[in-house]
Amino acid sequence: MDLLKFKNKKLYIDNFKLESILKKKETPFYLYSLDQIKKNIRQVKLSFKNFKPLICYAIKANSNLSILKELNKSNLGADVVSIGELKLALKAGVKPDKIVFSGVGKTDKEIKFAIQKGILSINAESRNEIELINNISKKLKKTTNIGIRINPNIKAKTNKKIATGNKVNKFGISISDFLNIIQAKKNYKNINIYLLSVHIGSQIMDIKVYKKVLNLVSKVLIKLRKLKHSINYVDLGGGMGIPYFKNDKKFNFKDFGLAVSKFYQKEKVKIIFEIGRFITGNSGLIISKIIYIKKINDRYFIILDTGMNDMARSAIYDTFHEIIPLQKSSKKFKKKIEFVGPICESSDTFGVYKNYSSLKEGEYVCITNCGAYGRTLSSNYNMRPLIEELILSNNKLKTVRLRQKIEDLI
Ligand code: LLP
Repeated sequence: MDLLKFKNKKLYIDNFKLESILKKKETPFYLYSLDQIKKNIRQVKLSFKNFKPLICYAIKANSNLSILKELNKSNLGADVVSIGELKLALKAGVKPDKIVFSGVGKTDKEIKFAIQKGILSINAESRNEIELINNISKKLKKTTNIGIRINPNIKAKTNKKIATGNKVNKFGISISDFLNIIQAKKNYKNINIYLLSVHIGSQIMDIKVYKKVLNLVSKVLIKLRKLKHSINYVDLGGGMGIPYFKNDKKFNFKDFGLAVSKFYQKEKVKIIFEIGRFITGNSGLIISKIIYIKKINDRYFIILDTGMNDMARSAIYDTFHEIIPLQKSSKKFKKKIEFVGPICESSDTFGVYKNYSSLKEGEYVCITNCGAYGRTLSSNYNMRPLIEELILSNNKLKTVRLRQKIEDLI
């Protein structure tokens, strides 16, 4: 989070001292900075100012209703992947004509609901799904605007568990199948294929691979023109990465914006993005208390009151989320330390540090960059209630989702 700073050894977000929350709140909890989210949105919009795309927020990254309402106020649309996310987007006030629906496994019920709501585009990911959308539309006596997601067979440099654009991945359809469907479009009288979508994966730092995608999409558009089929939208998905390590390079949004702007001027289609992580990722922290510090051989284990059930990314993808103490000590640990959670799995770890500022039981730390795929990936594993969520905005704190009660889980 750009806004985190130490002043007199105490950790602050802007002018807000994090320790001051602890008198009122039980740990662990999520804390999101709305100011950081707004800063991220400003950066994205500035880079895209030449072509003003529709930016749909990928709700899977963070589904907190209060955050979604704020994103809606900033004119963002929504990218949803289930009827649950679709209902949530509508509840947040997002207009149906700013909602796209992705996903390989949409059910009859989900498709029917999306058609009835008249969303901007159902982005179909298989011929079977296209047929189903056509059949349901026919029954409802409607013509539905849809998109088709292509699988570009382009490998993005990222963790293989979150890459989606390669031919071995389940997403989208091949370009030749896409063109065959366009040629056979008279068989689908109740749909209008007016969007092409592509999403090659998440946490991508290098814009080169996006340039490859843009070139490929341009080639597909030439083929579409030969088939006398025109489309209104190109949906370029999301995936723009954020630095998790302090020295990681940042995603070059400015150059990315210029590349897409060139594409836009050439192709004259409206552009859509489905951005999740870049908008909320660096806005969220988990504040956690140290329950025990125990030593096994040469290592100190710092046992936190939060674990992989609250923040699964480190356990699932081996990712690094820097942990920062709320109060810095002038002393340091002489041995290695490892932050771990209370869950009964060895994967419940948040990383090993050398020369870390000295800590005591009962003190507090925060886990950084948890604003995307933090809460949304969390679970009740080990019968642990989902934790409270707070938003900080203009130095004011607000609870935006309550901690679950154990009784509700039983
Ligand atoms: N559009 C589609 C079709 C997607 O599948 C995704 C993410 C996005 C947009 C948004 O991507 P973003 O801008 O957030 O990178 N749980 C993993 C990430 C999984 C991403 C799934 N799809 C993680 O914690 O890294």
